[in-house]
Amino acid sequence: MPRVLVLGATGYLGQSVTQSLVRSGLHDVYGICRSSSKAKILAAIEVSPVISEDPANAPEPFLAAIRRSNIDVVVDCAAAYGDSAKLLAHVTKAGKERLDAFKAEDITSPPRLGYVYVSGGWVHGDSDRLVSDLDPVGTASAATKPLDIVAWRPELERAVLASRDVLDVLIFRPAQMYGRSSSAWGALWGPLANGIKDGKSSITVPAPPNSQSPVIHVDDIADAISLGVGKISLLGGTSVYPVFDVVSSTENIRDVIDAFAKALLADEGKSSDLKFDFVGPGDDVYLKALTATVRCNSSRARELLGWEPKRVGLVSKMEVYAGAWKAGQ
Ligand SMILES: NC(=O)c1ccc[n+]([C@@H]2O[C@H](COP(=O)([O-])OP(=O)(O)OC[C@H]3O[C@@H](n4cnc5c(N)ncnc54)[C@H](OP(=O)(O)O)[C@@H]3O)[C@@H](O)[C@H]2O)c1
Repeated sequence: MPRVLVLGATGYLGQSVTQSLVRSGLHDVYGICRSSSKAKILAAIEVSPVISEDPANAPEPFLAAIRRSNIDVVVDCAAAYGDSAKLLAHVTKAGKERLDAFKAEDITSPPRLGYVYVSGGWVHGDSDRLVSDLDPVGTASAATKPLDIVAWRPELERAVLASRDVLDVLIFRPAQMYGRSSSAWGALWGPLANGIKDGKSSITVPAPPNSQSPVIHVDDIADAISLGVGKISLLGGTSVYPVFDVVSSTENIRDVIDAFAKALLADEGKSSDLKFDFVGPGDDVYLKALTATVRCNSSRARELLGWEPKRVGLVSKMEVYAGAWKAGQ
């Protein structure tokens, strides 16, 4: 029964990952939280809390938990961004300590500490070309540049891959997530919801009208990560390229906007022939990424992890997802 420690366990994805791991019945699940109030929330959902206020810059509580609880796999779902490389360095240090201890006892081919890093599909950049998780990203030979907001991420992915001399690693690149609070969609959906509330007849949308957005339900990516945790000793070494794009459908942004507005109007008992003016994201780096076209697929995650999404389609069940988003505001 692998013991799994989740960084970012209190976040949007992290909560879903811990629950997928708990539901599998296969793991002891630990979660890093940065305050005692959040520790209670984790304990209530059967996740053993580890309070570590700043795991990147003051890592002792985090490292002590890895040693004390003999953690087998660390999953990094933290939105630590500039500090993510430090988290990797700390886990690599813990993995090295463990290998040295095995070596001192003449144990050959010992189990290695596992590390799952959550990256994102935006590293592929904005392009109409089909891309694969086997394609290089952020290199001179890559077909497109990563989106500006994640320009730093390919280098971090390479550092994760380079740590395979010490760790077993997997990298997941989720598409844009939806479901529950659908936190990432607020930048587009929030202004739309306000416009509808104010009874506007025309709303400006900061998106290109024809972009194709890859999406995935948060529980489906969580299940992919949970499957990866179970297979990390098989797939996380150097014989398989351990990088997985994970997407369940690709949706036209205009359809997403139309469906969201219809769902909200119906929910509020309003009828309207609301018009949209798609003006593009301008210089906003977040909106540029949120509304980018990324044509990736998950065939390797399906083949190698045995993963299949259970929710396929954001637009087709938008009344549920728009309702959940609205309730979460
Ligand atoms: N959401 C998406 O659609 C999406 C899509 C693709 C990729 N991703 C990636 O998935 C990861 C998680 O995203 P999310 O949407 O779940 O983010 P989120 O809801 O903002 O959650 C972030 C989590 O990270 C923790 N955290 C923030 N800064 C930290 C730091 N410096 N050190 C340690 N922990 C820190 C937060 O702790 P507190 O609770 O204490 O604040 C929280 O648990 C990110 O790397 C993101 O880029 C997300």
